[in-house]
Amino acid sequence: MSLDSFNVTRTFHRDTYPAISPTKASLSQAGKAVLITGGGGGIGFEIARSFAKAGASKIIIVGRRTAVLDAAAVKLREEFKDSTPTPEFIAHQGDIGDDASISSIWEFLNSQNIFVRVLVLNAAHFYPLGPDTLKMDKREIMEGFNTNVGGNFLMTVNFVNQPLRPKGQQLNLVNVSTSTIHIIPGPNSTPYATSKAAFTALTGRIADEHPVEEIQIISFHPGIIYSEVALPADYAVWAASPEASWLHGRFVWAHWDVDELKADKEFSKRLEQEKGFLRVAVQGLKDISVDAFLNKQSS
Ligand SMILES: NC(=O)c1ccc[n+]([C@@H]2O[C@H](COP(=O)([O-])OP(=O)(O)OC[C@H]3O[C@@H](n4cnc5c(N)ncnc54)[C@H](OP(=O)(O)O)[C@@H]3O)[C@@H](O)[C@H]2O)c1
Repeated sequence: MSLDSFNVTRTFHRDTYPAISPTKASLSQAGKAVLITGGGGGIGFEIARSFAKAGASKIIIVGRRTAVLDAAAVKLREEFKDSTPTPEFIAHQGDIGDDASISSIWEFLNSQNIFVRVLVLNAAHFYPLGPDTLKMDKREIMEGFNTNVGGNFLMTVNFVNQPLRPKGQQLNLVNVSTSTIHIIPGPNSTPYATSKAAFTALTGRIADEHPVEEIQIISFHPGIIYSEVALPADYAVWAASPEASWLHGRFVWAHWDVDELKADKEFSKRLEQEKGFLRVAVQGLKDISVDAFLNKQSS
């Protein structure tokens, strides 16, 4: 059965709401260090604000433009100067499309004795755009894949392998994806859509390999942003909390009401029974397992 994306829950949110409020005790991020790629602007900046409201102790914002990051950090410090405890905001220049830069981000954190507990992969490469993919330049297409897939992958590998990670310490990975990965045909944005789909597929596969107790992984569509930035920002905090653990490895929308979703028995049944539900893979056939496939081949 297919669901209508706009009616998965009766309520289709366009702004934040109490169940995902970062000031809710069960969503507290107290004492945690959170790294947000692309945290200097757009949705990433709002995500930084929401984690500060949730009590995170250190918020590291990463981006390529130092001036943008520094200005963002000044704004954040001003807004939260009277919070107790006061969160520390660290603006760190880095390019997730560059392997050496990624290494240097994590070396810096380690040298500062910072253990990152939550990683929000928010930075994205949106280009090239155009109606004819075959007219696009391979190098430009690969730049998008390099950032949206390779960069996010390498950030995740470094996150998981932090020398300062206490043995057995659970991590939280939040991947800001996009509804564009559903849309077929999806005019003009093939490299963006397919690279975002590829990384969302990767996070699902990683979640199959690593249980939620080790690393909780949630991918979500933040909404098409005009005035509703608090919704995806607060949703990112919710996605990094134990309240979202049952969605480990899945791709969901910030618009869907989290309480209604949780109460929906049919939804829970599908999550349990359909391995491909809200995951990126070729759909339209019944689930097949590797075992069933091998048995069929040998019969
Ligand atoms: N806006 C929407 O309507 C919408 C809808 C669906 C999904 N999304 C998703 O939401 C996320 C944020 O989107 P947005 O609209 O807020 O984007 P945005 O305003 O363009 O911000 C992207 C941020 O990422 C940083 N960035 C880009 N490339 C980077 C790189 N290689 N290394 C480090 N930082 C990099 C940018 O800073 P620098 O340029 O300084 O590096 C910028 O701060 C993306 O993942 C996007 O796919 C957005």
